[in-house]
Amino acid sequence: MRTVLTPKQMGAVDRYMIDRMKIPGILLMENAAYGVYEAIREEREPCTVQVFCGTGNNGGDGFAVARILLANGYDVKVILLGNPSSLKEDAAENFAFFRETREYYTIITNKEEFEALPEAEVYVDAIFGTGLARNIDGIYQDAVNFLNARDALVVSVDIPSGINAETGIIMGAAVRADISVTFQYPKVGHFLYPGREYAGELQVVRIGVDEGCDIPLQAAVCAYESDDPDMCLGERPLDSNKGSYGKLLLVAGSYGMAGAAVLSARAASRAGAGLVTAASCGEVISVLQQNVPEATCFEVGGENGIISREAIPSLEKLTLGKTAIAVGPGLGVNDDIAAVVGNLITECELPKVVDADGLNVLAEHLEFLENKQGEVILTPHPKEFSRLSGMRTEDILGNPVKAAVDFAVEYGVTLVLKGSTTIVADQFGNASLLCVGTPGMAKGGSGDVLTGIIGGLLAQGKDVYEAALTGVYIAGMAGELAAEQEGEYSMTPMDTVNYIGRVMDAM
Ligand code: APR
Repeated sequence: MRTVLTPKQMGAVDRYMIDRMKIPGILLMENAAYGVYEAIREEREPCTVQVFCGTGNNGGDGFAVARILLANGYDVKVILLGNPSSLKEDAAENFAFFRETREYYTIITNKEEFEALPEAEVYVDAIFGTGLARNIDGIYQDAVNFLNARDALVVSVDIPSGINAETGIIMGAAVRADISVTFQYPKVGHFLYPGREYAGELQVVRIGVDEGCDIPLQAAVCAYESDDPDMCLGERPLDSNKGSYGKLLLVAGSYGMAGAAVLSARAASRAGAGLVTAASCGEVISVLQQNVPEATCFEVGGENGIISREAIPSLEKLTLGKTAIAVGPGLGVNDDIAAVVGNLITECELPKVVDADGLNVLAEHLEFLENKQGEVILTPHPKEFSRLSGMRTEDILGNPVKAAVDFAVEYGVTLVLKGSTTIVADQFGNASLLCVGTPGMAKGGSGDVLTGIIGGLLAQGKDVYEAALTGVYIAGMAGELAAEQEGEYSMTPMDTVNYIGRVMDAM
């Protein structure tokens, strides 16, 4: 697990190091620059380097990198974008060396001047860092395009210029880096797409305070990656029986979408639930019994292949003795389903995970969430979240962490916003980023698998945040294994289910 900061939180860390720990800002800049130099030295012996600098502190880091490279035998040219008179404090101080040695820098003011530059073997991108405030245009956009057209090593200082460090989105244009060297902590924008892709290989260098000695950070985001050592599961005690691992009630499926119920039920069982009880209409039950022999199945009232409101009393009975509920996959959408889902959410105190058609019901009936009993996990993808929250999908993707946290806090739920980086937000304002999974999971049915895993973990007594977090991690890692073994194109959600065990064993 890694702690990840917003630019604002990083500003507070900088102030702590400068004001409280009395580390001079210029020294922090030197340490940062030395870290970038070391990353370059790892990759290339002394060679030609061009360092593209803006006029903020990111550019200041760039001047220091250039000076250290020069001192170590590299053939360096600083390309300054902007007016040296607008450099402030530490950046100005680091530019002083170049001011005295005119041969090492060029000020570029128009696009044609880029084309006159000789080719270099390494380009350092120190145009904008966390201070990027608006869309890039003009000469800055030209510089980004120029860097992206180079067939050479591109190293970004802190974060690729043009990537919003809080949201990972591209502000007009962005540098595609091979390596990004960031300072003290990674930033949220390094872990959210497209920033995660544009950053290339992410390296973190400590510039003032060592690991483990950091100031306590308020509401910092946590990021989890593949093979994360902090993702652990307890041993299953030797002296245990199926009653020790909880009982999940799964309410899922309709005629034509029985597979959703099958995937969720199998995933819940693979995730370790002591007993999975699946409730659905008759058409689905016959499929479930053949395909999920480990589940107990109950036919509840249905009409035309969809669970009907007559199912409510049977479902109420079925909740007795259970430890968690998973509801939604493949249910279909009509007024009866709304009544069934509404009844479970507002009348049953068990912890529950609500997905797919369950979310579609909530989008029309937010009052169910306002009157919910027991803790609730919601697992929307951005489109479902758009329907649920009333936000436009573009606005959600513009700052997904904020969107997820705001909703989770407002409705008192745990929200899993699914995507290539999945965000788990809780009702207290905490958020985690799960950087696991593969494009091979972008296929119908993967969500049903996740619901089953989370349901299975909830049934075993994990609290909602832990079940959501661990569930997303297990699903993503199982998907990665499935892609490795079965191929990214061809893997199916059932393959993901079949690798759950390998992942959980290794945790
Ligand atoms: N176009 C033009 N200028 C811009 C734009 C833009 N789209 N966005 C911001 N600026 C200007 C700001 O007005 C400011 O002068 O760029 C400057 C800030 O850029 P940064 O160097 O990213 O911000 P700053 O806060 O100075 O430095 C943060 O310093 O600690 C280092 O590298 C670390 O990323 C970090 C950086």
